Amino acid sequence: MTNNPDYSSLTGAAYVLHEEKLIRNLELIRSVKEEAGVSIILALKGFAMWRMFPLVAKYLDGATASSLFEARLIYEEMGCKAHTYCAAYTDREFDELASISHHMVFNSVNQYLHFREKLQSQYPQISCGLRVNPGFSKVEVDMYNPTAPGSRLGIDAEHLKDGLPEGIDGLHFHALCENNSYDLEETLAVFEAKFGHLLHGVKWVNMGGGHLMTREGYDTEHLVRLLRQFKEKYQVEIILEPGSAIAWQTGDLIAHVVDIVDNHGIKTLMTDVSFTAHMPDTLEMPYRPGIVGTVDSETPYRYRIGGTSCLSGDFMYEYNFEHEVKIGSKLIFLDMIHYTIVKTTMFNGVHHPDICLFTRDGRLEIQRRFEYSDYKNRMN
Ligand SMILES: Cc1ncc(COP(=O)(O)O)c(C=O)c1O
Repeated sequence: MTNNPDYSSLTGAAYVLHEEKLIRNLELIRSVKEEAGVSIILALKGFAMWRMFPLVAKYLDGATASSLFEARLIYEEMGCKAHTYCAAYTDREFDELASISHHMVFNSVNQYLHFREKLQSQYPQISCGLRVNPGFSKVEVDMYNPTAPGSRLGIDAEHLKDGLPEGIDGLHFHALCENNSYDLEETLAVFEAKFGHLLHGVKWVNMGGGHLMTREGYDTEHLVRLLRQFKEKYQVEIILEPGSAIAWQTGDLIAHVVDIVDNHGIKTLMTDVSFTAHMPDTLEMPYRPGIVGTVDSETPYRYRIGGTSCLSGDFMYEYNFEHEVKIGSKLIFLDMIHYTIVKTTMFNGVHHPDICLFTRDGRLEIQRRFEYSDYKNRMN
């Protein structure tokens, strides 16, 4: 059953996660993991709506953290320890993080050696790995390409020519972003060429995130074949840690038109949401979010969409609407769950949208409403 939500009861801005769509993604991901015989874990950096963690835990093998707070959230709300990778672990946080992690991945040999003695004496149950940098990626935007020349993320092959330091069980690479299985295949060929000499000596390989297996047209059978072949060849456990794929196209951001301003004939819909505060990737990546009721061809109803902050660039260039838009209209921004809610800010003190769930049985629940105190408490 596919329900269409009725958003008329929403009076303020809101992210709305559709439970049914999330379940559909999780089912697909679980089938890949079962057919390929790999572990798939949720990358919290992409989706951290923790009230959904018990559901996620039914389908996936846990979660990966990139910080102490993410690891704590996994521990508290998913009820398991984390597979942890931090770009740089600090002495201050290390013990707490180690106590709630089952795997720890290090971004440099230096960092691993700094903590090795502590790990071996106090946390012998933790399986340690190194993040390596294949120096190859199909990602074209540098902001999202961890393998660009000079990257700080992952160890270059030349530093591991002579093998791995004692105590390392696994290798981790992350080189994809919204990619397909054919991109993974090319990346794996480079990874094997550069790090193949180490692969027979490890227990596991974590192939990072960026596997957008829930996007329409993704060839999951090809992915399964690739993973099986790799596993067979090196006799290693494989872990994938997607974020986007889990919450891909699972919900909307609902906004309202508060005013319409006209400057030299350019009409801007002033809304109660902000691109910089509530959809930052639209400016960072950048990309144009889909909006319900707009078309590609030109119409008489052309409007810019204005964010509510005072940042000059907090707007999207003209969209063509099928119908005239009036003050009070709702705007529905599509696919606004992954990498949005986790990245919001309260810049300008702008009101944070509610976080809502559209349940499988058709109810629209407000799970979280933000208050002035949320803003105030961040400042002091
Ligand atoms: C180390 C690591 N793992 C996993 C992910 C999740 O990637 P995605 O959400 O594209 O699947 C990221 C994203 O930046 C990452 O940096």
